[in-house]
Amino acid sequence: MKIAIMGFGVVGSGIGEIVSSSQESLKRKCGEDIEIVKILDLRDFPDSKFKCFTKDFNDILNDPEIELVAEVMGGTKPAYDFTKQLLLAGKNVVTYNKELVAKHGTELLEIAKEKNVNYLFEASVGGGIPIIRPLYSSLVSNELTDVIGILNGTTNYILTKMIKDGETFDVALKGAQENGYAEKDPTADVEGHDTCRKIAILASLAFGKYVNSEDIQTEGITKITLQDVAYANEFGGVIKLVGMAEKTEDGVYARVCPVILKKDHPLSGIDDVFNGILVRGEGLGDVMFYGRGAGSLPTASAVVSDIVEIIKHKGSHIVLGWVNGEDGYLKNANDQAFRFYIRVKGSDSAEFCREGFNVIALDGDEYADEFAIFTPKMTAAELEEFKSSSLSGRDILGTIRLVNE
Ligand code: HSE
Repeated sequence: MKIAIMGFGVVGSGIGEIVSSSQESLKRKCGEDIEIVKILDLRDFPDSKFKCFTKDFNDILNDPEIELVAEVMGGTKPAYDFTKQLLLAGKNVVTYNKELVAKHGTELLEIAKEKNVNYLFEASVGGGIPIIRPLYSSLVSNELTDVIGILNGTTNYILTKMIKDGETFDVALKGAQENGYAEKDPTADVEGHDTCRKIAILASLAFGKYVNSEDIQTEGITKITLQDVAYANEFGGVIKLVGMAEKTEDGVYARVCPVILKKDHPLSGIDDVFNGILVRGEGLGDVMFYGRGAGSLPTASAVVSDIVEIIKHKGSHIVLGWVNGEDGYLKNANDQAFRFYIRVKGSDSAEFCREGFNVIALDGDEYADEFAIFTPKMTAAELEEFKSSSLSGRDILGTIRLVNE
């Protein structure tokens, strides 16, 4: 099969590397040679072993021999227009582009179906971890109820460095960028937008109805301090950025935020650039997926797995996707109740030493005039009421949800 790559960055070059170095084994697995015949990128790569670069998208669109295109440009402009044109022209497209899938996946999957081709996106969530295919294939006989995941390698790397090595946020972020984990603009990582797109894709696939990432309440990790890390540790927990979605009889709740996970939670030991995804189904119970969630070769390997999948199903459309949800399908995440960690200024913690609460004071001068409260489960409105009644006039230094199960 003759293929093209659009975008020769971290992932595009990884695809080139895997396809050229594993030709024999890939041929054994899918029965065909995979040949890269065009690479679209505006930059020049005079030292590359590939000599098929072009700067003109039409060279790919109008080449009848190219049956499959790997879109690894990222972003929606021009990736959306290019992908749409390719699918309409009857070419298969594989991608890692979570932004595009989260925003325009419904339409692009519909076009792929009409044209009897495929739009696959295994690499869009969890880097090298197979998670998309299990959701539309291996797990289909189950009614899935929950998906919760550590879905961003950059923030997990940063939090791990803060927890294990006491590194500041800035130093740890630099390390993630140097390792090629972070997005071009790391705001998408640290503010939780990347995790948000990924949980939107997972929730849409797992529960069968579209969840728009723009409607998901999202909070990143920029406010997390080394002090929060220390209180969480004393409580027997770790701070992780998670995306979570729960299906109930009324609809779906979804949220992205930092949480404290007790150390016996299955996701609590997922460290560094690794991602972990816990899927819960009726009958099935819990299933965990674990692996490298970012980086050139892990992500590229997932793109190549989609290429192989398409070759194996040549000439047919692989059924996957979701339908649009009814109005109100995505519920107000603030109505879900959680326990909360609240870091408070002051030393008079006695009134919070009561049923359902935990109070932690840490040793050391820097903690002399503060303590942390762990509340019982409450909704966001109840939290506000608690703050205005019981914490009125106190400085609140930090608030994080707890996830126990
Ligand atoms: N910036 C993303 C991450 C890349 O850190 O997980 C993989 O989607």
